[in-house]
Amino acid sequence: MAGVFENAIRTFLSPIGELLDDDSVSEVMINGPNEIFAERKGLVYLTDCQFPNEEALMAAMRAIAQSVGRVIDDDNPILEARLPDGSRIQVVIPPMARKGTSVAIRKFSKDDLTLTDLIKFGSLSKEGARFLDICVFLSKNIIVSGGTGSGKTTMLNVIGRRVPETQRLLIIEDAAELQIVTEHVVNFETRKADPTKGVKEVSIRDLVKSAMRMRPDRVIVGEVRGDEALDLIQVMNTGHDGSMGTVHSNNPLDACTRLETLCLMGDTQVPPDAIRKMVASAMQIIVQCNRYHDGGRRTSHISEILGLDEHGNYIARDIFRWVQTGRDPETGKYIGEMVPCNYVPSFFNDIVVNKLPFPKSNFIAPDWAIPLLNGSKKKAA
Ligand SMILES: Nc1ncnc2c1ncn2[C@@H]1O[C@H](COP(=O)(O)OP(=O)(O)OP(=O)(O)O)[C@@H](O)[C@H]1O
Ligand SMILES: [Mg+2]
Repeated sequence: MAGVFENAIRTFLSPIGELLDDDSVSEVMINGPNEIFAERKGLVYLTDCQFPNEEALMAAMRAIAQSVGRVIDDDNPILEARLPDGSRIQVVIPPMARKGTSVAIRKFSKDDLTLTDLIKFGSLSKEGARFLDICVFLSKNIIVSGGTGSGKTTMLNVIGRRVPETQRLLIIEDAAELQIVTEHVVNFETRKADPTKGVKEVSIRDLVKSAMRMRPDRVIVGEVRGDEALDLIQVMNTGHDGSMGTVHSNNPLDACTRLETLCLMGDTQVPPDAIRKMVASAMQIIVQCNRYHDGGRRTSHISEILGLDEHGNYIARDIFRWVQTGRDPETGKYIGEMVPCNYVPSFFNDIVVNKLPFPKSNFIAPDWAIPLLNGSKKKAA
């Protein structure tokens, strides 16, 4: 049956077939039948591909909706689904989409990326990667933060795979994207409500709550974007150290504020002050992903959250940051590297007692980078 849908979808999507087959294309954006953009190597360009008309595009979207047991029509104008190959698709139809049916396809990445690959891409330094590995090993709670398409899921995938084999890992996602394969992993996916068939919604929140009763060592929530934030924070604060998730935010402090806001979105009776304290004590490491204007995706910060100061503000300390040192005149690509920020994390002693080969000197900023670190701090302030 799956094969039948697959062939039908393939036929309907044949106008963009070449983009779907091209592994160097990471995203396809359809803005009505005649305007199709694609992203390759981080840069977005207008393609020659077109659908014959709006009806043909709509027919393709109906086939995709049908393949996942859903409908897309006037009553259900937004579709969030996955293609048979695992690619994520988001659709909005007219009249909400003013240019015609609008679609974004995040292609499923076939590469099983590793920390070494991220070093090769220039997204992490060797020391930064090794430090993240240590954070996972030491069961630090890690939030991967970043804007849309900045590489959050990719980063979570890479570090999630570093969880020691002996630990039981429960993964909860809206649409299964993560490909974490370890010895003991259990995956859960939410279900949308379908009142016409009497199907009730099963939310991330429901799944996180049930995961707590399934003896997790660690819980991973693919994308925290609603009141399930509170459940994840509680998981992190109740002995399931080493839990992880991603959140949509622009810098490490923002990630804390964002999680706090999400916690308050639900019907919680917990007062805002208490929520802030809970977020501050749950957060340990924030990995900030960024998509730069040159198309490069890099880890801009690895920071530690140290709780709240006397005014109730979050305290974040950068451990590693990516700094730009120049720009290649030919390619326009930024030149730079990830450097330590002269801050030794509060848990350095855990690194020592566990005999992990990561000397204190790895946290010392090189002299040349200090003005750059200070300069960009000034700019951000
Ligand atoms: N470090 C990197 N270097 C190069 N490409 C990357 C890197 N990280 C991610 N990518 C690519 O960027 C695209 C977006 O990545 P990803 O899905 O991880 O982003 P995201 O932040 O989770 O996006 P969204 O906000 O839409 O969920 C993917 O095609 C992925 O392969
Ligand atoms: Mg993502």
